[in-house]
Amino acid sequence: MKAVVYNKGAKPDRLVLSDIQKPVPGDDEVLIGIRAVSVNAADYRSMKMGMIPARKIFGADISGVVESAGKNVKRFNPGDEVAGDLSGCGFGGFADFAVATEKALVIKPAGLSFEAAAALPMASMTALQALRNRGNIREGQEVLVLGSSGGVGTMTIQLARHFDAVITAVCSTRNVEQSRLLGADRVIDYTKEHFTAGNRKYDLIVAVNGNYSLLKCRKALKPDGRYVLVGGALSQIFRAIVIGKPLSLGRKKMLFLAAKTDTNDLGYLLNLASDGIIKPVIEKYFSAETTAEAMNYAASGHARGKVVIRWSPGNLYYPR
Ligand SMILES: NC(=O)c1ccc[n+]([C@@H]2O[C@H](COP(=O)([O-])OP(=O)(O)OC[C@H]3O[C@@H](n4cnc5c(N)ncnc54)[C@H](OP(=O)(O)O)[C@@H]3O)[C@@H](O)[C@H]2O)c1
Repeated sequence: MKAVVYNKGAKPDRLVLSDIQKPVPGDDEVLIGIRAVSVNAADYRSMKMGMIPARKIFGADISGVVESAGKNVKRFNPGDEVAGDLSGCGFGGFADFAVATEKALVIKPAGLSFEAAAALPMASMTALQALRNRGNIREGQEVLVLGSSGGVGTMTIQLARHFDAVITAVCSTRNVEQSRLLGADRVIDYTKEHFTAGNRKYDLIVAVNGNYSLLKCRKALKPDGRYVLVGGALSQIFRAIVIGKPLSLGRKKMLFLAAKTDTNDLGYLLNLASDGIIKPVIEKYFSAETTAEAMNYAASGHARGKVVIRWSPGNLYYPR
């Protein structure tokens, strides 16, 4: 099969489209013919940090068709259309075929395209878990989304809208209209104004991107407000982990999210998308041959939503 394999010595991108052995699923695994895969920070940041998957193939957010299933697999059968997050079972999505355990996968709703389904897993689960699990979001609350224009940010706005929050989004000039269209009530262009300028207070701040002072964020919270750090500059993540606890001693909480693959959440989110309540924002499509370009583009930090690789089926089970 074809796969984009990490090769440290391959200049300049270290990602090479190669012919390799098709994986054989174990008794608890499903073999999936990949139809689409989206790029996440989990791919390019892991690569940058030298955390290379055992099979040397990146790609976590996938959609595809079940080719075969091991004898202990209960929920999936050949021909099922699935989507999932393979980051907990060794990545491997940049390939004609990948193996995954059942706990990484859900059935893809028929009304959702393979591309849309592959764009959703990590970004939407992260947004949901930030708002609901860590943020304890409630109807009518004032929510600030710092960095509203990437994969996670665009999902955070739409889910906060679904929870009937009042949303302020922070992004750069070129993304102001996008944030508004996705459901933000107010948009602050970070190139022109600091979000603290108006002295507005928030019940929940979800920090997806950027590098904002934790003390300024804390000051912008209402007395029982919560700040949930999702991503952004590594220095900010490090600061939040180190001083988040002491800053949370009062009623205001400064929290960090480490999102987890949860098939209940993923099934719920894919259904929301299939019902048109949320919509993955896909800025660019790539092909298997241009996977390295897709990774470089996503790693630039300026993608407006998601980057999706359409995987052309070779000898796949689907369609028959
Ligand atoms: N904690 C977790 O479990 C978890 C899970 C998934 C992802 N993450 C993290 O979440 C973050 C976001 O990931 P992502 O996939 O959405 O994509 P991303 O590629 O990091 O987001 C790109 C977007 O961020 C915006 N941006 C860049 N610098 C900004 C700044 N200073 N202020 C505000 N916006 C800024 C860019 O818009 P402009 O070009 O207009 O600035 C662009 O639209 C990453 O840091 C990732 O590592 C964390």
